[in-house]
Amino acid sequence: MSSRGSKRRKILSFLLLQICLWADVTSVSRAIPSKPHIVFILADDLGWHDVSWHNRKALTPNLEELANEGIILDQSYVQPLCTPTRSALLTGRYPFTIGRQHDVLHGSQPTGLTLNATLLPQALKEIGYSTHVVGKWHLGFCHWDYTPNYRGFDTFFGYYNGGEDHYVHSVGKNGNMAFNEGEQGYGYDFRRNVDPDFSVNGTYDTEVFSSHIEDLLSTRNPEDPMFLYFALQSIHTPLQVPENYREPFKYIGDEEREIVLAMSWAMDDAVGRVVNALKETGHFNNSIIIFSSDNGGHESGANNWPLRGAKRSLWEGGTRAAGFIHSPLLPKTGFVSNTLMHVTDWYATLVGLAGGTIPENTDGFDQWEALTSGSPSPRTSFIYNIDNFIDPHNETQLNAALRKGDYKMIIGNPGEGSWTFPPEGLDTEGNSLHDHNAPSGDDLPRGIKLFNVIDDPEERENIAESHQDVVEDMLVDFQSELLRLVPADLPPDDPKSNPKYFGGVWSPGWCQV
Ligand SMILES: *[C@@H]1O[C@H](CO)[C@@H](O)[C@H](O)[C@H]1NC(C)=O
Ligand SMILES: *[C@@H]1O[C@H](CO)[C@@H](O)[C@H](O)[C@H]1NC(C)=O
Ligand SMILES: *[C@@H]1O[C@H](CO)[C@@H](O)[C@H](O)[C@H]1NC(C)=O
Ligand SMILES: *[C@@H]1O[C@H](CO)[C@@H](O)[C@H](O)[C@H]1NC(C)=O
Repeated sequence: MSSRGSKRRKILSFLLLQICLWADVTSVSRAIPSKPHIVFILADDLGWHDVSWHNRKALTPNLEELANEGIILDQSYVQPLCTPTRSALLTGRYPFTIGRQHDVLHGSQPTGLTLNATLLPQALKEIGYSTHVVGKWHLGFCHWDYTPNYRGFDTFFGYYNGGEDHYVHSVGKNGNMAFNEGEQGYGYDFRRNVDPDFSVNGTYDTEVFSSHIEDLLSTRNPEDPMFLYFALQSIHTPLQVPENYREPFKYIGDEEREIVLAMSWAMDDAVGRVVNALKETGHFNNSIIIFSSDNGGHESGANNWPLRGAKRSLWEGGTRAAGFIHSPLLPKTGFVSNTLMHVTDWYATLVGLAGGTIPENTDGFDQWEALTSGSPSPRTSFIYNIDNFIDPHNETQLNAALRKGDYKMIIGNPGEGSWTFPPEGLDTEGNSLHDHNAPSGDDLPRGIKLFNVIDDPEERENIAESHQDVVEDMLVDFQSELLRLVPADLPPDDPKSNPKYFGGVWSPGWCQV
């Protein structure tokens, strides 16, 4: 009896010890950064193969240094398009649960990112952060309520649309960049907070943004926690770059590729300036810097080699982002992390890190422990997207993909899925196991496909037929996710948006909320 009692006590004290040790580990890694500055750098349309740690012929030395002295995120997924990724980042929700799964927001659409979500900057502001967004918004602006200054950002310095001329900061309806005053719906799009800022007209955007961030940092107290969301337009179209950045890439003999790599280098310069400013103003040693592309590289010169597909597609080339996390606060750095991450995870991870409350309705996971201590990722699966819409022939389309463990299942049409060999060539011979553009023997646009994206990251071999048990298991998961699908929010363009009614400037004030 008594021996059994003492045994039980031993087990109990062993358990308590484990709990204490566990709590200790948790509190140690949590205690290091007390409200660190969070600098989230989001590149636009940057391809997997457009950064120098994936491609020795790219020129991104500042980013590479941060990546090498940080943690390279090798399994970090985003949505295939700008607006959906930005929606997921700032809400912590899968776009298909908030109506943002189909296409980007166009400048004339009378809607925006759902107002019933508490955005990441709002959550951080509640716990004492000052919050700043520099660059592209692309989450709606038809009503002031959709715009950054009304959604948790103390300051905004940038543009509302999805892209614009990199110098004159103007754009046509639905992203048409043509510099043509007479075109319907053409206007200027650059603001300092709520007011149009014409002073930047003529200056290339990386210069405009990094100068602004230098000023911002020099006027603030590094003791006060800051969230800086730096959403560059690099390397989004139109393909424009100051001439001096093109020189090292002249040998390529492919103009689009040359300009894209030059734009990537210009972006790197901007990041270098921001990092220097963080250091000079005393912010850096308490900063967490995250870098990611918003989706795969576009098809106008960006490159996702050796991944399949590009921006807009559900293939890995459209969704597996180049990225890293860097911070003097990280206990262990200088390695490549295979922690499975999805863009929705940043919300819970960053709010958790800052000491806030992680909302219950998030699709994300707090990844801090997994990233810093190498414990297994709390995430074992994710939804690439579920996109339902009525096509021009009034047929319902359902295109989706999900990941579970090492497997990826694609349902319907994942979009264009070729491999694009980099025009600049590969750095080392025999770097690739495959012929340049060898077809996979599976280019059916519809039906169900299954890939093991760990063994076959290039998605060469559809193994659905030989793995029917996996397919059936994943279909069960898919069906339960399908219950959460809300209709895509796709109102038709509204001519009231035309900048001509607002002094030639894309402006809020033409829709109801
Ligand atoms: C928030 O809005 C989305 C649509 O944008 C809707 O599906 C969802 O039910 C709303 N949630 C709440 C709590 O109102
Ligand atoms: C911006 O500068 C260009 C070139 O000087 C000029 O044509 C254009 O009108 C300017 N845009 C605005 C909104 O002032
Ligand atoms: C960062 O540097 C400042 C000034 O040198 C110092 O006061 C502060 O304690 C440092 N913070 C960390 C987390 O090392
Ligand atoms: C699709 O449906 C709409 C509304 O029901 C109708 O106006 C339109 O003509 C249809 N289009 C086609 C191609 O059938």
